[in-house]
Amino acid sequence: MSIRTAMLNGVATIEIARPEKKNAITAAMYRAMAEALDAATAEPAVRAVLIVGQPGIFTSGNDIEDFMQRPLDAAPSPALVFMKALMECDRPVIAAVTGAAIGIGTTMLLHCDFVYVSDEARLAMPFVSLGLVPEFASSLIVPQLMGNARAAEKLLLGDPFTGADAVEMGIANAVLPAAEVARHARRVAERFNGLPPGAVRDTKRLMRRSRAAAATEAIEVESTIFAARLQSPEAKEAFSAFFQKRKPDFSSF
Ligand code: COA
Repeated sequence: MSIRTAMLNGVATIEIARPEKKNAITAAMYRAMAEALDAATAEPAVRAVLIVGQPGIFTSGNDIEDFMQRPLDAAPSPALVFMKALMECDRPVIAAVTGAAIGIGTTMLLHCDFVYVSDEARLAMPFVSLGLVPEFASSLIVPQLMGNARAAEKLLLGDPFTGADAVEMGIANAVLPAAEVARHARRVAERFNGLPPGAVRDTKRLMRRSRAAAATEAIEVESTIFAARLQSPEAKEAFSAFFQKRKPDFSSF
């Protein structure tokens, strides 16, 4: 299992731990993270959830091998099950991002409550380069956060951006030295031990209420297009090129 969980001082920690594959997330890992979030929500002693990666890598996103194997059935993808658990988690979720956060690695941050990034963090949503489209309401939230002009750089071109950019655009709270990020994120998480949990839960729900319906609608539309794009010749070329360690060739499409 490449997800480690722990509970300490009121904080449930979910650690993405597959460094040999740059923390690429498989179906089993999404399921484990969804279960951990559900367990945290069910446990009154949990006052906050902390999501961490490994030194130098938060996550390289969805496992591309898994993208290639995803069955053509109607069942919700494990990624969707995880993202729904994240979006519905009623405890504050704090992410500590060291290194790269690619694809869903950045998308999940849009649904966390606090995001702390290292000075060497690189975020990117390179869905188009993979023949895919943004998902989990990022096509809605990213333009809302940064405006269409900068959203086009991030979503259409897939340009990476720094932790400082993420703070400036309202995706992250602060940039810290890499060695400090997880410690600082935990300190913030532990502050919820001193706050009334009911008021925290209600406030989190109120803060998300206005965009919840639009986000649900966006996810439905995105998911249908995303599933179709996974089967597209463009995506197949992009995935093969990744594993063959070459540049994809889209000239014939
Ligand atoms: N899915 C599956 N395997 C992945 C992966 C992913 N998302 N990201 C990395 N890996 C694997 C590589 O295939 C490689 O495996 P190998 O050692 O068996 O060849 C291993 O992890 C190390 O990756 P590598 O690319 O050699 O590391 P790097 O330090 O040169 O680059 C990244 C790191 C994260 C920049 C690069 O791996 C990358 O761009 N990954 C894909 C990101 C992506 O497009 N994600 C999907 C977004 S929707």
